[in-house]
Amino acid sequence: MSKNFDVVVIGGGPGGYIAAIRAAQLGLNTACIDDWKNSKGGPAPGGTCTNVGCIPSKALLQSSEHFEHAGHAFADHGIGLDNLRIDVPKMVARKDTVVKQNNDGILYLFKKNKVSFFHGRGSFVKAADGGYEIAVAGDKLETLLAKQVIVATGSSARALPGAAFDEERILSNDGALRLGAAPNTLGVIGSGVIGLEMGSVWRRLGAQVTVLEALPVFLGAVDEQIAKEAHKVFTKQGLKIQLGVKIDEVKSGKKGVSVAYTDAAGAAQTLDCERLIVSIGRVPNTTGLNAEGVGLKTDERGFIVVDDDCRTNLPGVWAVGDVVRGPMLAHKAEEEGVAVAERIAGQHGHVNFNTIPWVIYTSPEIAWVGQTEQQLKAAGRAYKAGSFPFMANGRARALGDTTGMVKMLADAATDEILGVHIIGPMASELIAEAVVAMEFKASSEDIARICHAHPSLSESTKEAALAVDKRTLNF
Ligand code: FAD
Ligand code: NAI
Repeated sequence: MSKNFDVVVIGGGPGGYIAAIRAAQLGLNTACIDDWKNSKGGPAPGGTCTNVGCIPSKALLQSSEHFEHAGHAFADHGIGLDNLRIDVPKMVARKDTVVKQNNDGILYLFKKNKVSFFHGRGSFVKAADGGYEIAVAGDKLETLLAKQVIVATGSSARALPGAAFDEERILSNDGALRLGAAPNTLGVIGSGVIGLEMGSVWRRLGAQVTVLEALPVFLGAVDEQIAKEAHKVFTKQGLKIQLGVKIDEVKSGKKGVSVAYTDAAGAAQTLDCERLIVSIGRVPNTTGLNAEGVGLKTDERGFIVVDDDCRTNLPGVWAVGDVVRGPMLAHKAEEEGVAVAERIAGQHGHVNFNTIPWVIYTSPEIAWVGQTEQQLKAAGRAYKAGSFPFMANGRARALGDTTGMVKMLADAATDEILGVHIIGPMASELIAEAVVAMEFKASSEDIARICHAHPSLSESTKEAALAVDKRTLNF
């Protein structure tokens, strides 16, 4: 006997579980199917983000940052510590507890919002009754009938050809988040977001980290000035970053991994390391969905093809999050999920792709929204730039964390803010003001005229806005 639903969401990551909650809030009879299993085989909704992504990585970043502060920064505050040590298994167990709290929180939210949750693998069977028949392979096989389907199946780590993940020596984000001890030597392939965040965690805990990046530029998507500053700081911290390399061969043995590569000068090199993280991007999850069986269109890279509103080529089938085009970010997935649920309910859901913030949770943090200086130059747009260093901010001095700056870019004629780029303490929190400002099409003068609490890091955003008009007060 099949169960009937207005909406069936396949995938319970941030795109899927949020879509399901919003659909249920709007009065639609909604089910969400997710196959993630915890260590005991039970349900663990929340997807990559909750289980092996955003949440656990931030937990380990926090623990390792505490350790680094205790070892290097506390002395400046007059705090002395003898015999500082790190219990890595305890740190990892704390991370697992944080993950479980989030899994349980989502199960609670499903109950609260009356979303029916199915633990298992969802796949299309066929079009039926103006909707779709969906099979769920869990402890038992069930069939659901859905008027509308939202595919939110997410993404998985991309492996290097010839170097499959074993999660022992060659690690994806999954293995990188559950090492039992800091390796003495850690290789990282790809100096993107995961490489820098996970490289930072294990460097802080004592690993010698070498990052090999194919591109000749560091953090190409980041504003050049900010990326340069980041490169300088990370190198000073001890991350060895090599740009413009070509990976030739990866050999894994009992003792470790050997990476043969060609460096930017064309010389053959070898990196020997105990463990290797491969973080070279992610691939969309569509295997086992039977997309082809119902004619759901995917592109040459495996992403489900959608229009600006997340509609697929099939009537009544939508797709959101990492499995479709656009940045692979949890909050982008969530916004798309909400917008799709609202469209199904006849409302006008909307996602503004121009104001999606990015954050890299290294120390210092890097955060930005809108356009970079190089993008504006390439587009031939006339702009004004202003920046303010945390060195001149009273709160940053009191915190003992004065690295970096806030940089604001505004249209030369209208003064509308076109981009804000931050490297420094709490950049992840500071960027929210810039996102709000840009959503409301604020000018730099608007920010410059707003009263910001003193002493606060956010005063640097106001000062950067003043700098656009060349009238900083504290620098
Ligand atoms: P996912 O979170 O991947 O969820 C998809 C879910 O669907 C999974 O549970 C999967 O098992 C399930 N599924 C797949 N196929 C089926 C099926 N056929 N049937 C049933 N279930 C299925 N983003 C940020 O914004 N901030 C961060 O700080 C951040 N940190 C990250 C750190 C790491 C290490 C990684 C790897 C990613 C990070 N991301 C971060 C990216 C973020 O995790 C993703 O963008 C986000 O999880 C995408 O959400 P999603 O719902 O599209 O997919
Ligand atoms: P990424 O796209 O951020 O970086 C991958 C890097 O690997 C790039 O610099 C690329 O040039 C390089 N690369 C690709 N192939 C290579 C090769 N063969 N040899 C050497 N270098 C190579 O991808 P990453 O770090 O795997 O993360 C995946 C996604 O997860 C990110 O794009 C991001 O969307 C998301 N994420 C977001 C986080 C956040 O918001 N804080 C944290 C972690 C991940």
